[in-house]
Amino acid sequence: MPELSVVIVAADGEQRAVLQVLVDGTSVARSVHTSATFPVAGTDPVIRRIQSANPDVILVDIPADNTSSALHSVELLHQEMPDSAVFAVGSMAEPQVIVSAMRAGAREFIERPTTTTDLLEAFVRLTAAQRKVRREGARGKVFTVVNAKGGSGATTVAVNLALALQSAHGNVALIDIAPLGHTALQMNVKPLFTVADAIRNLHRLDSSLLESFMTRHSGGLQLLAGTSAPAGVEPSTSEFARLFDMLVGLFRYVVVDASTRTDPTTRLVCNLSETVLLVAHADVATLWSAARVQQYLSETGGRDRVRLVLNRFRKIAGFSESDAEAAAGAKLLWKIPNQYFAVSTAIDRGIPLMQQNHTEIARSFIGLAARLTENDEEVRRTAWSLFKTV
Ligand SMILES: Nc1ncnc2c1ncn2[C@@H]1O[C@H](COP(=O)(O)OP(=O)(O)O)[C@@H](O)[C@H]1O
Ligand SMILES: [Mg+2]
Repeated sequence: MPELSVVIVAADGEQRAVLQVLVDGTSVARSVHTSATFPVAGTDPVIRRIQSANPDVILVDIPADNTSSALHSVELLHQEMPDSAVFAVGSMAEPQVIVSAMRAGAREFIERPTTTTDLLEAFVRLTAAQRKVRREGARGKVFTVVNAKGGSGATTVAVNLALALQSAHGNVALIDIAPLGHTALQMNVKPLFTVADAIRNLHRLDSSLLESFMTRHSGGLQLLAGTSAPAGVEPSTSEFARLFDMLVGLFRYVVVDASTRTDPTTRLVCNLSETVLLVAHADVATLWSAARVQQYLSETGGRDRVRLVLNRFRKIAGFSESDAEAAAGAKLLWKIPNQYFAVSTAIDRGIPLMQQNHTEIARSFIGLAARLTENDEEVRRTAWSLFKTV
């Protein structure tokens, strides 16, 4: 993620200082200028000073005792500087103020008192949206796999999806951020390093150091393994933001196994993802959990990104797919057949299903990979050229 430059407009000196510390604390943004006065007209010298700082984001503090001039300045800044995003910061207790701020052109309304995480999430959303507008550039896409409940099949889906993407397109990374990493076991590789090493060395991490922390699987898939000791040192979410920025610069597709991890880090990674695959079984208890996980991940936006994957799927009389969608609060993306023998022997032997060709379940993962990449420009172009030469 490129560093965002931020201008802070706040009449209150203490609030100005606090916001500055919080912005710089995200480590994905830097405050480049602060203003103690709200601009009142387009000709105001304050506007010129803000313009010359050329900010990506303008944070405008909305004080309870002077909402009208703050809201007016949001409108003015939005008009005068259409290329900068205006974020309003204020109390969530006044719905009318929130609505007015959004109408005036604020892109985000951030709660006061504010936390670094609130700001970080807003910054990530902005960059993700801008990346879409720029037609993805050369950046890779992230697919994150979470389960509704332990044992639903997140790791199985992540590993086999990554292998299917690797064999179809190449240049794929699998990142294991689960509370206890199982991907290396399923792939039968012995990693020397884990995600924790990459995070610990973030200050000097470049592409070659990052790749040296990854373990290469026989087909070329690169694994950044998970922790083998639960509850290690928790890196901050902003460190993950920087790690993922590097990963999408290096790989075409990045598959993440979060399994049961539902914390701000998973939510941040989901915010950076093209699609979040919520893996569940079609039983009442699991779908209930799926709805809770879906809600948590969608709290910071991007609900449409979360899609349901029904694993170990069997037709059950009286229970339809739309029942499952309604219970989980997410649209169905894919169904994976129930093949206990094939799956469990693959895991026990460390030979992933994708390496054992022609099983029904391997075909299912190939189909899932194709579905997730069908709108990808480059994939479409190759499909078209293949079609023409036939
Ligand atoms: N499609 C499937 N058919 C049959 N068994 C499966 C299937 N997917 C997963 N399993 C079984 O479920 C167990 C848990 O899967 P895993 O991927 O580790 O789940 P999670 O990461 O969500 O905890 C595995 O040991 C495997 O035996
Ligand atoms: Mg798992």
